Amino acid sequence: SDSAIEQIMALAPVIPVIVIDRAEDAVPMAEALVAGGLPVLEVTLRTPAALDAIKAMKSVAGAVVGAGTVLNAKMLDDALDAGAEFIVSPGLTDSLGEAAVAAGIPFLPGVANAANIMAGLDLGLGSFKFFPAATSGGIPALKALAGPFGGVTFCPTGGISAATAPEWLALDPVLCVGGSWVVPSGPLDTARFEALAREAAALARP
Ligand code: 3PG
Repeated sequence: SDSAIEQIMALAPVIPVIVIDRAEDAVPMAEALVAGGLPVLEVTLRTPAALDAIKAMKSVAGAVVGAGTVLNAKMLDDALDAGAEFIVSPGLTDSLGEAAVAAGIPFLPGVANAANIMAGLDLGLGSFKFFPAATSGGIPALKALAGPFGGVTFCPTGGISAATAPEWLALDPVLCVGGSWVVPSGPLDTARFEALAREAAALARP
């Protein structure tokens, strides 16, 4: 049966990677993305507003709210306290991996090579963020990495756009992709977010 993180990855073809500057934008932003068909939301812990945004977004019906850019066990604790339902990291360290596994939280750590994947498998993980996807060799690299690791699934992220997402989603081990293109920075524009989400949600796997 699919792991908890795979069940989240399967909810939508695209996970919006959110960098939020104003916590008061969190609810309307999440409502727009969910309405557009993207229920899985990754709020990156790169801004002071991020933890409050996670708490607020959890009140939006249908939203599955996770924390991204989780770099260490302290940030993991902060994300769990805020109620994050899954955890994304750009990479994988033993200390973060062990803490995430001990917490029992769905965890999607970044990998860019075979050794990273082997470290994750040692921790009992089977799904990874391929990051930064476009500059880590792109689709040929992911295909080559998938060869020795049958059953491992990926969410490629980093340099992916609406134009290139379909090529990634066509790959068997790719359950979804991540990207910030759905939530452009600037003033809150919920109509635009909803339209971008609707376009992204239509990029279903073939
Ligand atoms: C991330 O943290 O996953 C990246 O910042 C997202 O990459 P993108 O901005 O190229 O989509």
